[in-house]
Parts: sequence; C-alpha cells; structure tokens
Amino acid sequence: MTYKKMIHIEPLARRQELLSLPLLTQSEIEEAIVQALRQLDLNMAYFNEQFPFSATENLIYPITENKEWTEGFWTGMLWLAYELTHEMKYRELAERNCESFYHRISHRILVDHHDLGFLYTPSCVAAWKLIGNRQAKEAALMAADQLLSRFQEKGQFIQAWGEFGRPEHYRFIIDCLLNLPLLYWAAETTGKTRYKEIAQRHLATAIRYVIRDDASAFHTFFMDPNTGEPIRGVTHQGYCDDSSWARGQAWGIAGLPLNYRYLHDSDLIPLYRGMTHYFLNRLPQDWICCWDLIFVRDASQPRDSSAAAIACCGLLEMNAVLPETDPDKEIFRHAAHAMLHSLIQSYTSENPKPGAPLLYHGVYSWHSKKGVDEGNLWGDYFFLEALVRMSRSWSPYW
Ligand code: GLY
Repeated sequence: MTYKKMIHIEPLARRQELLSLPLLTQSEIEEAIVQALRQLDLNMAYFNEQFPFSATENLIYPITENKEWTEGFWTGMLWLAYELTHEMKYRELAERNCESFYHRISHRILVDHHDLGFLYTPSCVAAWKLIGNRQAKEAALMAADQLLSRFQEKGQFIQAWGEFGRPEHYRFIIDCLLNLPLLYWAAETTGKTRYKEIAQRHLATAIRYVIRDDASAFHTFFMDPNTGEPIRGVTHQGYCDDSSWARGQAWGIAGLPLNYRYLHDSDLIPLYRGMTHYFLNRLPQDWICCWDLIFVRDASQPRDSSAAAIACCGLLEMNAVLPETDPDKEIFRHAAHAMLHSLIQSYTSENPKPGAPLLYHGVYSWHSKKGVDEGNLWGDYFFLEALVRMSRSWSPYW
C-alpha cells in the first residue's frame, strides 16, 4: 500500500507572527474547561436521555432522537467530562447513551452511510476504552461491520452516502478519514486484519484523488461504478467544486495524523504538512477560518469555528509524534495555541444557557442555510477535546 503523492507544500506566510504570540497558560486552559463544563452541565439537564440536534437554531440545540450523524459527539463530550472530573454523573449518562447506540446499530436505524466512526468512536469505543463496557464494545464492532459493508471494490473506497452502488451516490468524501479509526480499532480488538486492510485501501484512494496537487482538498469525489476509474471532484458543503471547504481541509488535517497513529507511515507527514500550511495561509487575522478557504482572510464571511477546533486537534495529534528536529513542530504548536486562544476569547459565551453550544459561530451547511453562524455538536466536541489535549496527557478515543 502506498500513500506517496507529490503535492506542492506552500511556505508558511505568517511564521514569524505566529512564533511571536504567547502560548496559552495552564490556568487559561483550566478556566476555559470550567466554563465549558458549566455549559455541558446545563445541557445534561436540558437533554437528559435525548440528544441535541447537529446544530443550534437561534443558538439553542433542538432536542432530537439518536438518528443523525452527530450524536457521538454529544456522548463523547460526556466521556471527556468524566475523564476531566471523575464525576459519576457524566459516566452514568454516557453509559445510558451507549445503550441507545447499541439499539440503533442492532436495529440498523439510519446507519446506511459512512459516518459510523463519528457516531461510534467517541461514544462506544470510548466507553470500552475507559470503563470496559462490553455492550458498547459489541455496538462499536457492529458499527465497524456496517462501515465495512460500504466498501466498493470497484474504485476501492467506502461509499459516503445514499443507496449502495447507485451511480449518483458512487463517491467518497474527505471527512471519512475520521471514520477509519473505527476500523483500525476493530482490527486491533478482534485480530481480524480485514478491517485494517479496508481502511488502508480507502485511505490510499482518498489520498490519490481527494487531496489535490496544491494540498487543498475536494470535499467529495465521484468514481465510475463500471470501471472504478476516477470521474471528478465536486463539493457538497463548500463554496464551489474547486474551492477548499474549510471543514473538509480540517478533516484532512485531523484525519491524516489519526491514520498515522495506526499506520506509522512517514508518507503521510508531507501530506499533513501541505494541507496544514494551505489552511494556515488562508486564515483571517484572528486565526479562525471562514467557512470556505476561498475567502482568503475575508473576515466578512461567516467563520467556521468548528473547522478551527478540528484543525487544532489535528495539530496537537501530529505534534505529539513529530520529531524535535521537524522544521514546523514549534510553529504548529503556536498555531494550535493561537487558534484555541482565539476560540476561547471570542467564540464562547460567559453566560451559559440550557441548550446552548460550547462554541459559537460555526457553519454547518452554507448552501442549505443550515446552522450558519450557529453552534454545532462537532465544534463543541473538538473544542473540548482540544482543551483536554492541551491541558493533560490524553489517550484519544479515535
Ligand atoms: N461530515 C459532515 C460535516 O462535516 O458537515
């Protein structure tokens, strides 16, 4: 399996500026954690055993059942809170959520898509890793099997959405890099190598086609169902087909290091470096990206705070393994701090309200006018994960 691909790596434009910024202090991070947990506590009472919808509406999450692609982030926050505080209330609700995840996968409720990793890693894999919950492990393994069943031999990819094999749905998307850790975990847990093989084959296809030569990313990529040959990259949530949707780029920045965690393949590092430079070179003054990177530093466009939180976790994940001699290690550390500092300062609220997000000013889908300048669950989750990563040594659920 080769992940080698020649891409252009832009020089970093704001290297000196980044290096001159002070790093967050431990007490600033701890204060932000206290504030985040205050919001989470209110939301636990508000949602109880139901779930928040993917994004807020008028800055409050509607209440929903476990049926979107995003509920895993909610349960994942409960596990992060349990790790931070050791308080049983978080663990008890997270475990009750896991029963809902078990029910969902055993009854195949709205799981005909690839988002099984987003759903089952921060919820059920976390439950298994942290407290050895056996039902959660079983649920996560069923989810991994369901994810395997989305693999298309012709074209060698995991089909993202829609009826399996239909030409209009014959595509994969950059986001799927975060679903692959569920397969690596299943391989390690069961000893069955097929999970890992499929993840590696998908990863190789994604690198080949969805990452462009200039280190930006297509959001989605269509393949020919008859020949398995590549057809074209198109956007779904980005501005246009050849722009770089900020969250897609961030899924790449987080996804490559998480795949590296399992594969230790150094070919992934230049790809990560290229994607990260591309992203950092297109940030407005306050280091928080607009919803699409085509708006280079155009601060009038809606920001996507969630993409910043995701990228921040990717930077911290990769920095933990980059050697001290890496020319970017220090700058990446400063970039993670700059983004997290800005999120804490200007994208959170000091007035928690029941049902409100932890992180404000995200964009779910600009074209469908859904969750624009609102909070969203993955933004909240990765913001809290970034705070955890930055404040203590932490073993990822991914
Ligand atoms: N994975 C879908 C999204 O990022 O909106």
